[in-house]
Amino acid sequence: MHLLNSKDIVEKIKLDIKKECDELGFKPGLATVLVGSDPASSVYVKSKIKTCKEVGFESFDFNFDDTATTAQIINTINQLNNNPLVHGILVQFPLPSRIDSSAVINSISPNKDVDCFHPFNLGMFFSGQSSFAPCTPTGVMALLKSIPNYSLEGKEALIIGRSNLVGKPMAILLMEEHATVTLAHSRTKDLSVHSKKADIIIAATGIPNIITGDMVREGVVAIDVGITRILDPLTSKYKIQGDLDFNSVKDKAFAITPVPGGVGPMTIVSLLLNTMTLAKQSK
Ligand code: GUN
Repeated sequence: MHLLNSKDIVEKIKLDIKKECDELGFKPGLATVLVGSDPASSVYVKSKIKTCKEVGFESFDFNFDDTATTAQIINTINQLNNNPLVHGILVQFPLPSRIDSSAVINSISPNKDVDCFHPFNLGMFFSGQSSFAPCTPTGVMALLKSIPNYSLEGKEALIIGRSNLVGKPMAILLMEEHATVTLAHSRTKDLSVHSKKADIIIAATGIPNIITGDMVREGVVAIDVGITRILDPLTSKYKIQGDLDFNSVKDKAFAITPVPGGVGPMTIVSLLLNTMTLAKQSK
């Protein structure tokens, strides 16, 4: 069984980026925009900022409190669009429900849309014309490709979750690698019918333990995108719980990601790679 711990891949990509950064002659700049006080989002953004600094990027951090309006956020994004030191703009999702998320996404210049969320970039991506893709699915692909002697061609891949952030772009990337894709979601009638025949399962629902060992076949490759913060009754501390019931799924898996330490860090290095791509394209 391969434990798809992302640590080694992450360290290697970070070293490569640091070297590229030193040779570039200028610092790629990433701006992060965080709205509200969701503790998980704050942790992720802090981690993104820290990793940026480690590889030699410039980071520009904007924090809005819960009273921020859509217009205020868009105003800041307009300034970042015009700032030549900023090459990538990341607005952390989810935004509070009273903020118009589509208007915020649409205000980011497609040339600085490091998440590949803008409709123009999504159109380029869906039509196979883009040099980058959304961060989490890109990170998942890198993990899948790291499995020794494993080809995605012709594999039955089940994605659970249809979000614009993960599920939909994940389907495109897997199809580009010639996998046969099934996309399940909250209204799927019988998830286990699909999960039992899947060679690859990518779970991105945010529902802890939605996939258990009895729902998967022997030899499955199981990728866990879930990161739910739950109170551990044993320690009374918060911990991160994935969508897979790790212990029961691992016994049947050919390869499996841990949570934490699997997909999460890959999302961050994809962000660095996308920032580097945009920085280079800006010249
Ligand atoms: N929230 C969870 N994942 C992501 C991501 O990849 N990008 C942004 N902007 N927000 C997220």
